[in-house]
Amino acid sequence: MERGETFVIIGPSGCGKTTLLKAMAGFMRPASGTLRIEGGPPREPGPDRAVVFQDFDQLFAWRTVRDNVAYALRTARKFSKNDALRRASEALALVDIARAADRYPHELSGGMKQRAAIARAIALEPLMLLMDEPFGALDAITRQQLQIELARICADTPVTVVLVTHSIQEAIYLGDRVMVMSPFPARVLEIVDTSHARDVETPEFARLTGHLRDLLVRA
Ligand SMILES: Nc1ncnc2c1ncn2[C@@H]1O[C@H](COP(=O)(O)OP(=O)(O)OP(=O)(O)O)[C@@H](O)[C@H]1O
Ligand SMILES: [Mg+2]
Repeated sequence: MERGETFVIIGPSGCGKTTLLKAMAGFMRPASGTLRIEGGPPREPGPDRAVVFQDFDQLFAWRTVRDNVAYALRTARKFSKNDALRRASEALALVDIARAADRYPHELSGGMKQRAAIARAIALEPLMLLMDEPFGALDAITRQQLQIELARICADTPVTVVLVTHSIQEAIYLGDRVMVMSPFPARVLEIVDTSHARDVETPEFARLTGHLRDLLVRA
């Protein structure tokens, strides 16, 4: 993966996408093979590799949205209380959830919880943003809104994004490159350049959609 790119991983259920992401995050070590991040093996989990999961319950239930973000900054990045609160407000504005800053997680919709989880991850200014089907449990419209916002954040910040998704359209729309994996035990079938395809209405987008679908079906 190149620094700053959005690298998408797509492949059949059970092929090992989450496992690969966990190894990058430092939650587990590869049984074989090597993994290098910035030239060396991944260190223990840290704020340089922020993780966003699919489920909606990633926030501390007893903290407000703003405090969820600020708490991460204070503990992982050693921000002072005031700096953390200010930075948290900025991050929440970035994903359009500033109006819910003082609410608790149980007062949020699923989409709002995912926005808050993304804000918390982005606020840390990680080197890598590791996302495992972050929009998988959202309705179609919310999903589309968050895709647009993530695309903007990817373009505006130097973060390297690794995104696992089951959606071919999402992969092409957000990805600079898409790695297609075979069923378990997975191999890399192809790494497809999709950096030029951003408009769903174009023939090129349709061509890439067909190509990725063929790879996944034939696998
Ligand atoms: N903690 C674990 N211990 C042993 N085997 C595991 C563990 N977690 C996952 N596996 C196995 O490793 C394989 C890959 O699982 P993984 O969760 O990485 O798949 P995935 O590609 O993320 O699938 P999905 O698309 O359904 O999320 C599966 O066969 C799974 O059963
Ligand atoms: Mg998975």
